[in-house]
Amino acid sequence: MALRGVVAMDGPSGTGKSTVSRRLAQACSAAYLDTGAMYRAATLAVLRAGLGEQAPAAELARAATSASIESGTDPAAPTITLDGADVSAEIRGPEVTALVSAVSAVSEVRTELVARQHALIRAAVDGGGGIIVEGRDIGTVVVPDAPLKVYLTASPEVRAARRGRQDAKAGRDSDLHRTLADVERRDRLDSSRRVSPLYAAADALVLDTDLLSADAVLDRLRELVADRGLDG
Ligand code: DC
Repeated sequence: MALRGVVAMDGPSGTGKSTVSRRLAQACSAAYLDTGAMYRAATLAVLRAGLGEQAPAAELARAATSASIESGTDPAAPTITLDGADVSAEIRGPEVTALVSAVSAVSEVRTELVARQHALIRAAVDGGGGIIVEGRDIGTVVVPDAPLKVYLTASPEVRAARRGRQDAKAGRDSDLHRTLADVERRDRLDSSRRVSPLYAAADALVLDTDLLSADAVLDRLRELVADRGLDG
């Protein structure tokens, strides 16, 4: 199965979005773009500049937007570099996770990263290819005319448990209560921010993954790609 065009995958963290987006891209020989990783790399640049949540938005924006961030779009090995070095593991650490909602709420940061996302998406679809793009505002802001938009949800408890398992697998210390509090805090910040808040596009298909395995979600996505005539 091959994919033509863009599939927009949105939803909060811990819904299994990254796993199924990558697997769908591999199944469809499509490219894959993790926009959350871009906001995380920009946040790492902010931390390296010695700035924190209290810094003025203009300073956060300067540090985040002057950073050289390169996003790989190969679903078999998604990589992201900051100033030439691979930071794929570092961007998942607790310091970045604690600050990323504040950095991604700054409108100048979003304008710059969305422009970079548009360039990567154009490169993938020019010539008839396809790309799975995952984030929070893909169906609403980045690609509002995407032919397939999916919004994954799950309860905070299930999402925190998934995050905990990912942390354990990656060798990161985590505590379920703290992870749940972090999931709820980021939901609140990401959904209530002024610019590009997290919500499902009116024409997105909403899938609750509480009781669905990754395999079941992937099957449903492949059906949707075929139903919309995006395979070819
Ligand atoms: O998907 P993730 O947890 O790695 O995303 C990290 C943060 O980046 C998330 O808290 C909100 C922000 N984000 C965003 O604002 N817009 C996107 N398109 C993707 C992520």
